[in-house]
Amino acid sequence: MTPVCAPLRVLGIESSCDETGIALVELPEGADGSAPPRLLAQALHSQIDMHQAYGGVVPELASRDHIRRVVPLLRETLSGAGFGLDVVDVVAYTRGPGLAGALLVGTGMACALGMALDRPVLGVHHLEGHLLSPFLSADPPEFPFVALLVSGGHTQLMRVDGVGQYTMLGETIDDAAGEAFDKTAKMLGLGYPGGPALAKLAAQGNETAFKLPRPLMRGDLLDFSFAGLKTAVWTQLNRLDPAVPEAAQAHADLAASTQAAIVDVLVAKSLLALQQTGLKRMVVAGGVGANQRLRSQLDAQCHRRGVRVHYPELHLCTDNGAMIALAGAMRLQSGRAQASRDYAFDVRPRWDLAAA
Ligand code: KG4
Ligand code: ZN
Repeated sequence: MTPVCAPLRVLGIESSCDETGIALVELPEGADGSAPPRLLAQALHSQIDMHQAYGGVVPELASRDHIRRVVPLLRETLSGAGFGLDVVDVVAYTRGPGLAGALLVGTGMACALGMALDRPVLGVHHLEGHLLSPFLSADPPEFPFVALLVSGGHTQLMRVDGVGQYTMLGETIDDAAGEAFDKTAKMLGLGYPGGPALAKLAAQGNETAFKLPRPLMRGDLLDFSFAGLKTAVWTQLNRLDPAVPEAAQAHADLAASTQAAIVDVLVAKSLLALQQTGLKRMVVAGGVGANQRLRSQLDAQCHRRGVRVHYPELHLCTDNGAMIALAGAMRLQSGRAQASRDYAFDVRPRWDLAAA
């Protein structure tokens, strides 16, 4: 496949879970055709308020809300930036992984739009969107690098040699890091989504107050396991008397100790992956990548080893349309994929990134 010629404007549609995201990126005419895409416009609707009452994402409610939001968001994205539909050259959409019903909304919208505009469409892997999202930051990385992908459902370490050139180095054998944040937050009564809430409470706590496990830390294994941490937190929590005045501080201490345990494991495994690959560049992506403790610990450790760490802009850590438009544009730019005018579609609720 041959790379496409810039300039090219790619519309991205994300609807895999509880955020509806639309964005437009442009592949500039770089001197060597490798300049990263630029974000021209974007709009996002988060369903957090709607799902909060249930303590987590309700799939059917998510799908229905995507249906309500996707067209107004498309209008807002384009007209807000002074564009019409005519500027769109390719429509990229999240094909998976994610909630089947939610994915169908964005995919159906993308294919209908492509057909109506006579523009080709391209299905994108959601995690590839996260993985490449730092290319939209003011400090974009260069290939190759080690990537730590930490989202709500995935915790993976990868060697990334280029677009579509991903080698899995390690991944979680049970819960993802985001799940560990979310489940602990739920036990502490902090609501959904748990990551930011747990991090906020942790800021008032003592991280050494509780001794929590850091699983699979011995040896040179790059896999993760967070399920035991959840059980350990539950055991500690059950030992606390909620009626005593010290309970609030104990909750903050437990939040801080949990965050420290998760971050310690993520940092240690990242350093091991850097050591094993000999690479001097690292990318952290996905919702947990917004965690300030993770960023500061990793920055400090990597700085000492002469390793540069790249993150997405904070607002692009969690799900958004920009990363989908970007991943579509970079796939086309690299010649790894071609957009198609076949508007028949399916979605991939489970989809291995290596097979994308
Ligand atoms: O990447 P993402 O938006 O969605 C998925 O593709 O799964 O990640 C969501 C996850 C949730 O588990 C959420 O609690 C976590 O990212 N998260 C955080 C923070 N912000 C979001 N975890 C820790 N600290 C944060 N500041
Ligand atoms: Zn995500």
